Amino acid sequence: MILLTGGTGYIGSHIAVELLQAGNEVAILDDLSNSDKSVIERIQHIAQRNVIFYHGDVRDSSLLASIFQDHHIESVIHCAGLKAVGHSVKDPLAYYDVNVYGSICLCSAMQKAGVKRLLFSSSATVYGIEAEPPYVETMARGVSSSPYGTSKGMVEKLLEDLFASDPQWSVGILRYFNPIGAHPSGYIGELPQGTPNNLMPYISQVAAGVLPELLIYGDDYATDDGTCVRDYLHVVDLAIGHRVALTVLEEPGVHRYNLGTGSGISVKQMVDAFVASIGVEVPYRYAPRREGDLAAFWASASKAERDLGWQPGKTLEDMMVDTWRWQQFSNKAQQSS
Ligand code: NAD
Ligand code: UFG
Repeated sequence: MILLTGGTGYIGSHIAVELLQAGNEVAILDDLSNSDKSVIERIQHIAQRNVIFYHGDVRDSSLLASIFQDHHIESVIHCAGLKAVGHSVKDPLAYYDVNVYGSICLCSAMQKAGVKRLLFSSSATVYGIEAEPPYVETMARGVSSSPYGTSKGMVEKLLEDLFASDPQWSVGILRYFNPIGAHPSGYIGELPQGTPNNLMPYISQVAAGVLPELLIYGDDYATDDGTCVRDYLHVVDLAIGHRVALTVLEEPGVHRYNLGTGSGISVKQMVDAFVASIGVEVPYRYAPRREGDLAAFWASASKAERDLGWQPGKTLEDMMVDTWRWQQFSNKAQQSS
């Protein structure tokens, strides 16, 4: 059985479906602080398999101990955490508490239970503000622009130290670039609380008329069209990346992988791609740069391809179409609630 923390969240729910469809038994631990219990039924509906759900906090050591006692857990995928970059600047303690202390609680419980295989949800942000793209796994971690990013780098270091102390540990550090899109079924996707911070949900809410217009933060960056460049990947491809990364855990060590497509696309190109794929207008205007944004970064994706045989299979159009289908599903769900 695989224990998946944060499994009712955006990325975790897609990982759960992928694991179940591949025949794995899955237990989810989530405190539902940024997700909804209905996601469990939707995961089960897509996968046509049951999942075990624990409603609880990853910092609850006695709950963790009982989960490890009640099930034969082979590996853990640790997605639970707080992820809003701007919020982390305002409330850093919450980020160090949930992201860092939560990981300490989880690893302690794993160590006590003799479970030493872990995949960790890290982020491209650990490469830091000075790194030159494409980001390669051999680059050292840099200085992050936010407490959120720092918390991810701290957990990476903690996991490296854990392996140094006990070479039986197998740790997969997965550095996500910019996951977008939703499951093609339309049953699961990202559920931003309030106004979204991220580009893709913002674009789709403007297209749906929920928000009046998109603000494009900055048109004077040193990029081809002056807007920021990122490496957007489909969340289903990201979920597949976790399934295949579980295989590297058979070898003890610290394994670092970028999960990105290897190419960058600008904010303006994203808006144009959405309009071209969906045929719905997205009113936008340029606004000043957003504090903390980097001009451009994307992944070197060759290590994941070489070692894991992982290559994103979804197109930019898939990302747009699936985002839009999910937007319509969530609109309907909101109207009927
Ligand atoms: P999400 O907020 O949708 O999912 C996180 C889940 O963790 C939520 O369901 C939330 O309820 C749960 N959670 C939060 N605190 C918890 C706690 N103390 N105990 C138990 N559960 C808790 O976010 P996501 O986008 O699915 O991100 C998953 C992971 O991937 C996070 O660790 C995030 O930092 C990382 N990540 C996300 C992105 C991105 O762009 N979405 C990029 C890089 C890394
Ligand atoms: N953007 C806009 N308008 C918006 C929202 C975003 O122009 O309304 C722009 C941003 O300025 C940025 C780009 O769209 O240039 C992408 O922004 P996102 O907020 O979607 O994503 P980020 O690259 O800022 O951050 C994401 C995750 C972080 C993670 C980082 C690196 O949110 O958790 O990728 O992995 F750390």
